Amino acid sequence: MSSNRNMTWFDQQPRIELGQGPTPLEPLDRLSKELGGPRIWLKRDDCTGLATGGNKTRKLEYLMADALAQQADCIVTYGAVQSNHARQTAAACAKLGLPCHLLLSERVDWPHDSYARQGNMLLDRLLGAEIHVSSLEDIADRRKALLAKLTDQGQRVYEIPAGGSSAVGALGYTRCLAELMVQCETQSIGTDLIVHASASAGTQAGLVFGKSLLDMPGRILGINVFHPDPQTLKDRVLILAQTMSDRWPDTALAETFQVDVNHAYFGDGYGLPTTGCIKAIRMAAQLEGLLFDPVYSGKALAALIDQINLGNFNHLNDVILIHTGGSASLGAYIDAFDE
Ligand SMILES: Cc1ncc(COP(=O)(O)O)c(C=O)c1O
Repeated sequence: MSSNRNMTWFDQQPRIELGQGPTPLEPLDRLSKELGGPRIWLKRDDCTGLATGGNKTRKLEYLMADALAQQADCIVTYGAVQSNHARQTAAACAKLGLPCHLLLSERVDWPHDSYARQGNMLLDRLLGAEIHVSSLEDIADRRKALLAKLTDQGQRVYEIPAGGSSAVGALGYTRCLAELMVQCETQSIGTDLIVHASASAGTQAGLVFGKSLLDMPGRILGINVFHPDPQTLKDRVLILAQTMSDRWPDTALAETFQVDVNHAYFGDGYGLPTTGCIKAIRMAAQLEGLLFDPVYSGKALAALIDQINLGNFNHLNDVILIHTGGSASLGAYIDAFDE
């Protein structure tokens, strides 16, 4: 396909609008000056507008279109207790008038009361979702039982995988890259490096697929925040990008995808804030008036700050950080911010 045809290819894919866009691309000049490296640009996907925003809005625009096409009359999805994906799905369901079931796993060892009640949990309730909390060991049985119960009730269930990371959902981030490329071209911003938090692989797979589709020469760097073994994340991104390629053969992407992951900012585990992450969140708040979260976007920001401090990005004029959202969980992590 020619690159113009690729740019408009998205317009033919079924999508419903759930958020606002294009999201802004803003320079972080006070933070850039403080660090003394390349100019940092922030792609504000925390501003998608759906119940405090975040990267799941873009995925849900395609997933919900698919659910409606399949005449679903309820949605079931999965995540951790403080899942941003669950909250965004609950909001999308509310907007579309669909019942929403969230099966949330207790997989994070953060032993403070606020974790189970505040942040995304509070918002899930407000948004009217039916919440099912399960231990990690019981999750497969609970899923089976929930799906059986809904089916017995005659409901046509549309299941969304954790993080919305299917080929259909990941398309949201291919679209994000197309949007970003237009913004960079218009403002003469270099696209040599795009950094973002990576977990269930959909965001990175969508970007990696988009890089091939749109012929973007730059590097996409996922900061692993979820998988104890980063190779698992790499494999998942690769498989998902390949699944996209197989699903839409008219895109005719012959090359193998390149997947770049940095594991150095993972810390003790998923959902466990690092010292560098808390420091980075404070820096962004106090230098730029921006909110990042301690599970995802804050770890990506910590990575970017550290890599700039190490001089590893000195050869670049511009670096782009995708703000994938997540600040809705800040209240659940109040204890991480004790002085
Ligand atoms: C705020 C935030 N940033 C980044 C991610 C990672 O995106 P993905 O799961 O598509 O890798 C998630 C979801 O897991 C998220 O909630």
